[in-house]
Order: sequence, then C-alpha cells, then structure tokens
Amino acid sequence: MANLGSWKWTALSIVLFAAGPADGQFPDKFTNLKVLPKDISKHELESTMRGFAFALGVRCDHCHVEKKAPEHGLDFASDDKDEKKTARIMLQMVAGINHDYISKVPKETPNVEPIQVQCVTCHHGLTHPRTLTAVLSESLEKNGLEKTLALYGELRKKYYGSGQYDFGETSLNQLTEALLAKKENSQALAIMELNFSANHPDSAWSYHVLAQTHEANGQIDKAIADYRKALELHPDDRWAQQQIDSLSKTK
Ligand code: HEC
Ligand code: HEC
Repeated sequence: MANLGSWKWTALSIVLFAAGPADGQFPDKFTNLKVLPKDISKHELESTMRGFAFALGVRCDHCHVEKKAPEHGLDFASDDKDEKKTARIMLQMVAGINHDYISKVPKETPNVEPIQVQCVTCHHGLTHPRTLTAVLSESLEKNGLEKTLALYGELRKKYYGSGQYDFGETSLNQLTEALLAKKENSQALAIMELNFSANHPDSAWSYHVLAQTHEANGQIDKAIADYRKALELHPDDRWAQQQIDSLSKTK
C-alpha cells in the first residue's frame, strides 16, 4: 500500500511540476467569470486556461496575481492584473470574430463546421503577436543595427523551429525591401548579408533583393553577379537580363 501511495504521489507531482506550480490549486468554484459561462465545468475551464497559457507562451501568473502573504498560490478570481483584463477583451473579440464573421463565410464543404479562430491563431506562442520583420524593423529604428543583429541571433536561438517567428529568407527580404524604400542602404546591406549567412537562400527573389541592395550601395559588379545567379536559377528571368545589360553599360 505504501508503495502504491508513493507511486501515485510521484506520478501526480510530475504532472504538477510539468504544468507549473499554480496547477495544484485549481479551485472547484469560480466566483468571477464575466465572459465564460458561469456553469463551465472545472475540466473545461482548466483546458481553456491551459490553452491561453500555451497560445501566449506564458504561465498562469502572466494573468493571475499572487495571493497576499501569508497565503500561497495564485488568486485566480482577482482582476488586479491588466493582462487578465486584456484577456477578457480578447475572449469577447474571439467570440465576436467567430460568431459574427467566420460563421458567415461560404462553406467549401457543406456540413463541415467552419474553422474557428482561437487565441493561438494570432498569438502562436507570443504575448505580442508580431512578425519578425516588424520586430526587427522597430528595433532598427529604436536601437540601431548592432543591437538588432544581436536581437536576431537571440530570437533565432530561442524560437527557431517552434513557429513563433518565420526565420525563412522571406522575413529578411521584406525587411530589406522596406529599408531600401527608406534609403537606409547600409542597413539594408547588413540585413541582406545576415540573410545569406543565416539562411543560405537559393531563390531568385533573394538574389534580386541582394542585387538591388548591392546596386543601392554602389557595388555594381556584385549586383551584376547577383542578377546572373538569379538568371541561373530562372533562365527566363527577363528582368534580371535587362538589369545585367543596363548595369553593364553604366559601369
Ligand atoms: C492570458 C491570460 C490568462 C492566463 C495565461 C490564464 N488565465 Fe485564468 N483567467 C483568465 C481570464 C480572463 C479569466 C476570467 C474569464 C471570465 O471572466 O470569464 C480567468 C479565470 C480563471 C479562473 C476562474 C477564477 C474565478 O474564480 O472566477 C481560474 C480558476 C483560472 N483562470 C485558472 C488559470 C490557470 C490554472 C491558469 C494556468 C494554466 C490560467 N488561469 C491562465 C486569464 C488567464
Ligand atoms: C485576431 C488576433 C488575436 C486573437 C485571436 C487574440 N489576440 Fe490577444 N492580442 C492580439 C494583439 C494584436 C495584441 C497586442 C495588442 C497590443 O499590444 O496593443 C494582443 C494582446 C493580448 C494580450 C496582452 C499582451 C500581454 O502582455 O500579455 C493578452 C493577455 C491577450 N492578447 C490574450 C489573448 C487571449 C487569451 C486570446 C484568446 C481568447 C487572444 N488574445 C486572442 C491579437 C489577438
């Protein structure tokens, strides 16, 4: 008996540990539900809350405050955290999106329920759902190139492969195009060099962007070589051929 007891305890403690410290104290009664149905089952509320935590890549204490000492654990009913209040607005927003809009989308297949928007649809593991391009662009403006290159490295190390950010060539191509449009040519070159060293892109698009970046920085020979590479990838790329011709004349 004693063995069985301790086995159960170990199994339970592993589950609790994996789910975070707050989980052991999930209450049986809920006193402050304003959006979710008041008669929601404990099981359903628990899985909804886990869904929130998973979608935002956080733990329960992101939205729930600690109880006042000497009590331990989280005060789930309290509305003292702004994140909880925001989450309520989000809950209403998601219900509105699904009810008022998604439900009206013509069905591709009759009798199949439409796909529902969920927290994870936008958040995909981030509290502030933003593209990598937007994050890096803001960092360039606020903190300059060196810090932004470092930030890219940190984000890549932390998130690569888990879907929060798109670390493919596209994000940095888009950022470079935006920088070229703003005539931030040297930043554009640094970002494109980062793209080639991190992602080794092999697409005509990336070589086009690299060519434009080299051209903007006065590196005409390199630009011509980039367009040649694009042409190699897509022999019928007439734009690349035209660029090679006209750049060769200006040299
Ligand atoms: C993104 C924010 C967020 C996260 C993360 C979150 N919650 Fe919540 N939680 C809420 C909101 C918002 C409500 C209130 C919903 C409503 O008003 O209908 C709530 C309500 C609750 C309640 C009911 C409290 C009451 O008495 O009314 C419990 C229990 C709860 N959460 C537990 C958890 C647990 C356990 C976790 C971690 C697995 C968690 N929550 C993670 C936002 C969050
Ligand atoms: C349609 C896209 C979308 C959906 C769906 C969505 N959110 Fe958000 N959420 C956002 C955006 C955008 C922000 C950032 C707002 C800002 O920073 O001004 C945000 C911000 C938040 C924040 C505040 C950021 C922080 O510091 O934690 C919380 C909490 C949050 N959302 C919870 C949720 C929850 C819970 C759900 C599901 C019920 C949800 N969101 C569904 C787009 C969405």
